[in-house]
Formats: sequence, structure tokens, C-alpha cells
Amino acid sequence: MKTYVAVFLTLSCVLLLYLNCCDGKTFDVKLLEEPSGLWSHNEEDKPLVMQINPANFSGPPHFRSLIGKCFNKSDNMYQYKFCPFFNVTQHELSLRWNPYNGILGVWQDWEIANNTFTAMLLKEGDKCGSISRTSRVVFECAPEHQLKNVSEPRTCEYLFTFQTPFVCHPNAMLVYPTMEDHLRDAWDELEGQYVREEITKKGYNKELTKIFQRAGFIQTGTKPLSKKSSDMLSSNNSNTGNNQFTSLEQCTAAFNILQAEIEGLRTLLMLKEVKSSKSYFNISDHHRGGKIPTN
Ligand SMILES: *[C@@H]1O[C@H](CO)[C@@H](O)[C@H](O)[C@H]1NC(C)=O
Ligand SMILES: *[C@@H]1O[C@H](CO)[C@@H](O)[C@H](O)[C@H]1NC(C)=O
Ligand SMILES: *[C@@H]1O[C@H](CO)[C@@H](O)[C@H](O)[C@H]1NC(C)=O
Ligand SMILES: *[C@@H]1O[C@H](CO)[C@@H](O)[C@H](O)[C@H]1NC(C)=O
Ligand SMILES: *[C@@H]1O[C@H](CO)[C@@H](O)[C@H](O)[C@H]1NC(C)=O
Ligand SMILES: *[C@@H]1O[C@H](CO)[C@@H](O)[C@H](O)[C@H]1NC(C)=O
Ligand SMILES: *[C@@H]1O[C@H](CO)[C@@H](O)[C@H](O)[C@H]1NC(C)=O
Repeated sequence: MKTYVAVFLTLSCVLLLYLNCCDGKTFDVKLLEEPSGLWSHNEEDKPLVMQINPANFSGPPHFRSLIGKCFNKSDNMYQYKFCPFFNVTQHELSLRWNPYNGILGVWQDWEIANNTFTAMLLKEGDKCGSISRTSRVVFECAPEHQLKNVSEPRTCEYLFTFQTPFVCHPNAMLVYPTMEDHLRDAWDELEGQYVREEITKKGYNKELTKIFQRAGFIQTGTKPLSKKSSDMLSSNNSNTGNNQFTSLEQCTAAFNILQAEIEGLRTLLMLKEVKSSKSYFNISDHHRGGKIPTN
């Protein structure tokens, strides 16, 4: 008897659930075919999910203070949000039931040319047909941080201009001064090989990319630099502009640049077969007129 009751109750429950479920309602299934190349339809409060993790911070030390900050830019249809070292997102400014929201890229690599950080590359954004959306953020000197000039030079490749006082000093974006000693040594060594024509330009670029990967500027697995990185020694590091420092950051940057210059000179000397002991030329020596101890 108990079994019958149990079975009956169970069946009733199933029946009730079934009736409740479909009582005059249609199923809430979206059968919309999404044309490729358009945003997937996110519900407004559904959080966006990055497909990959942002890379760690790297680059000019004074950029570290941008971590955790975000910068908006609105045009008539969209709001764009750039969070340096994290992501770029796009939000449709409309009251439709399904405004488009999407990720235009996740922080990955610095673009480097001529010993200079030239742009931030944010990759693996939301799918766009068979590719992922990517963003490139270039810099422009200005008194305030501001996101400007959003454009889409190629489908699903976005270009932003980020105005910032951080790039105004002519040497603010140099790569070499930001690197650790052992990586500078590797770069110096590579310069030597290139100057002595022991490696080709192509080989040089390949090895330099590896050094940048070790420095964390470029993630492994990304393609080699598209632009040629030129000889760091040929770039005009000596031009320090007008030496008006308004902050400790600028002063520190200038100090690093001078230090790098000395490293560069040291390399040149080594190339000229000037042998010297390990204790030559550190930053505190340079005011002595650069006398080189010889063995
Ligand atoms: C983008 O980065 C910002 C800053 O860290 C973070 O608050 C936000 O959640 C990220 N957006 C997405 C969609 O992950
Ligand atoms: C980021 O830094 C942390 C700690 O410094 C390290 O453990 C981690 O491997 C780094 N991640 C990447 C992707 O390099
Ligand atoms: C950026 O957008 C957020 C949310 O939409 C808003 O609260 C904030 O005021 C905006 N900031 C700027 C500088 O436009
Ligand atoms: C790098 O510098 C060289 C000469 O200094 C110049 O010819 C070249 O256009 C520069 N390349 C870039 C990408 O700025
Ligand atoms: C961005 O826009 C400003 C003014 O609208 C213009 O002066 C500047 O040249 C533009 N920059 C780029 C990189 O297009
Ligand atoms: C570097 O600066 C010197 C003078 O300071 C100038 O004569 C030379 O043309 C510059 N080189 C480049 C590549 O800009
Ligand atoms: C730098 O030079 C000073 C004074 O000549 C010396 O005491 C110091 O040990 C040197 N440092 C290095 C790292 O060689």
C-alpha cells in the first residue's frame, strides 16, 4: 500500500511540474541564427568573459600606475573602455533588449620598433567569424590621460589613440632602459654579433624577439615582430630634450636612460676590442670623464 502511495505522489509531482512548466508558456529558447561577424547577444547584466588571461605588467615602469584604471570614450553608438594591462571592451549605448557588449581584446604584447615601445596589443577578443577581435593602442602626448580616435582599419581590428603625459619625454618609451641586466647583456651580445656580421638581420630580429619574450614584453606563441627593430645603438638616445624634470618619475626615467647610454658605450668599447676589467664604467664613474681602466 505504501508503495502505491509513493508511486502516486511521485507521478502527481511529475504531472504538476509538467503542467506548471508548460502552462500556456512558450519555451524561452532563442532560435535566432547569428550571422557571423556580429556580436553574440549578451543579456545586459551578463558579465563578459575573457577568453585568455591578461599578460602580466611589463614595459615602462611609469606605466605601472595605470594598472586598475580604465578610460572611456563614447561615440554616438558605442562606449569603449580601455583598461591598460587588462582589456578593451565595447558597449552599445542603446535601450534595446539586447545591446551589443563585447571584448575587443585582452592585454598581451608590446609592439616594439627601434628600441621603442610603440603600441599596446590586446588580443583574443570576442570571436568575429573565424578570427578574434584585436585592438592596438597607440600613444599621443597630451596633458591628460584620454582615450581618443577609435577606428576599425580592418574588420574586427580596432585602433585606439591613448593620449597621455606619460609619453611626452622623448625617451619615455625606450625599451633598453627598462630591461634587467642579464637581458641587456644578452642584447649587447646580440648587437655585437650583428655588427660583426656573424648573424643576418633576420637572425638578429628573431633573437631580439626571444629576448623581448624573456623580458615579458611579448608573450611566447605570438608571431615575431612585424616591424624591424633597428640597431639600438643607432637610435639617438643622447637627445634628452630640455632637461626640466617635474616629477621623480621623469627624473628616474632620465637616470635609467643615462645608465643605458653608458651600457651602450661600454658595448661599443668592447666591440672596439678595448679590454677592460669587470669593474669598469658604472654609473658613478661617468662624471670622471670616462677614463677606462686597462689591465
Ligand atoms: C576588464 O578589466 C577591468 C580592469 O581590471 C576589470 O575590472 C573588468 O572586469 C575587465 N572586463 C572584463 C570583461 O573582463
Ligand atoms: C605573472 O607573474 C607571476 C608572479 O610574478 C608568475 O608566477 C606568472 O607565471 C606570470 N604569468 C605569466 C603569464 O607570465
Ligand atoms: C565611464 O563609464 C562609466 C560607466 O558607464 C561612467 O560611470 C564613468 O563616469 C565614465 N567615465 C568617463 C570619464 O567618461
Ligand atoms: C627606425 O629608425 C630608422 C633610422 O633611425 C628609420 O629609418 C626607421 O624608419 C625607423 N623605424 C620606425 C618603425 O620608426
Ligand atoms: C586624433 O584626433 C585628433 C583630433 O580629433 C587629431 O588631432 C589627431 O591627429 C588624431 N590622431 C590620430 C592618431 O589619428
Ligand atoms: C642623432 O643626433 C645627431 C645630433 O645630435 C644628428 O646629427 C643625427 O642626425 C641624429 N641621428 C638620427 C638617426 O636621428
Ligand atoms: C661602481 O663604481 C664604484 C666607485 O668606482 C665602486 O665602488 C663600485 O663597486 C662599482 N660598482 C660596480 C657594480 O662595479
